[in-house]
Amino acid sequence: MPEVLFELKNVRKIYRMGDEKIVALEDISCVFEKGKTYCLLGTSGSGKSTLLNMLAGLEKPSKGSILFKGKPLEKLNESQLALYRQQYIGFVFQSYNLLPTLTAIENVTLPLIFRKVPKRKRLKKARAMLKAVGLSNRSRHKPSELSGGQQQRVSIARAFVNNPQVVFADEPTGNLDTKTTIEMMDLITGIAREHNQTLIIVTHDMEISQYADQIIHIRDGNIESVTDNANKLNAAPDNGGAQDEAAPGTEIAPDNGGEPNENITAEAGNGPRREEKEDKNDEQVK
Ligand SMILES: Nc1ncnc2c1ncn2[C@@H]1O[C@H](COP(=O)(O)OP(=O)(O)OP(=O)(O)O)[C@@H](O)[C@H]1O
Ligand SMILES: [Mg+2]
Repeated sequence: MPEVLFELKNVRKIYRMGDEKIVALEDISCVFEKGKTYCLLGTSGSGKSTLLNMLAGLEKPSKGSILFKGKPLEKLNESQLALYRQQYIGFVFQSYNLLPTLTAIENVTLPLIFRKVPKRKRLKKARAMLKAVGLSNRSRHKPSELSGGQQQRVSIARAFVNNPQVVFADEPTGNLDTKTTIEMMDLITGIAREHNQTLIIVTHDMEISQYADQIIHIRDGNIESVTDNANKLNAAPDNGGAQDEAAPGTEIAPDNGGEPNENITAEAGNGPRREEKEDKNDEQVK
């Protein structure tokens, strides 16, 4: 039996806007298991991102409970939640959320800096991850010097660099063309499968949902239906071959890579001292 990572029990989320009550999630109960790929599929406004934000501990339910490995997330305080995200979660966003002043490799090393991984190891992992996503030759480019697809590759490398147990992807291919979309989906699902990671992808695109083991149809804040996808699309086996080096598997491998916050800038700004002279061109974070 696969391990249950998340269990949602009658989760409800209401936003109050003045006198108005917006029911973003009405009554959601479901489980997410280790090593599986899920798709939250639904039209705009149905509650998909709200649900993802709850799983990430970025929002608390108004009612109900979200258990992660049996422990209720809603009981954690902000610093415990930040730690939870660092330890277990990776994020991929539609808009990439890369830091514009940092190079590709610097962006990928950010989650490792938060975890105080020594510089030599950081660079080794980040290089291996960039290789795995096919971007070795762009490691010193800044986001503005990369195409949209390349930026998304960097953000995928960042999401996976710490080998997180769960990766959330909110419309990860929303800004990409069809060919690049297929490449990105192959990449994300290929890495996750190789390392038995749980992937939860939000989309309104039926095609993308075909990559999932299970499709959870969301409508008006409720689960309308759940489909086990027997004909799941599988990623091409070759994703560059560098993943093993990137994700050692023996250590807990946290990531807060995509966390959309000022802390990244702040942390990167005060960042750690330079420990070694070599590779100084690879990582300019001071
Ligand atoms: N912070 C908020 N305050 C008030 N209402 C909100 C807030 N966040 C979301 N909502 C409302 O909750 C509902 C669900 O929003 P959500 O962002 O989860 O939808 P979605 O399924 O992700 O849509 P999309 O596909 O357009 O991204 C919407 O009606 C939205 O307006
Ligand atoms: Mg959304």
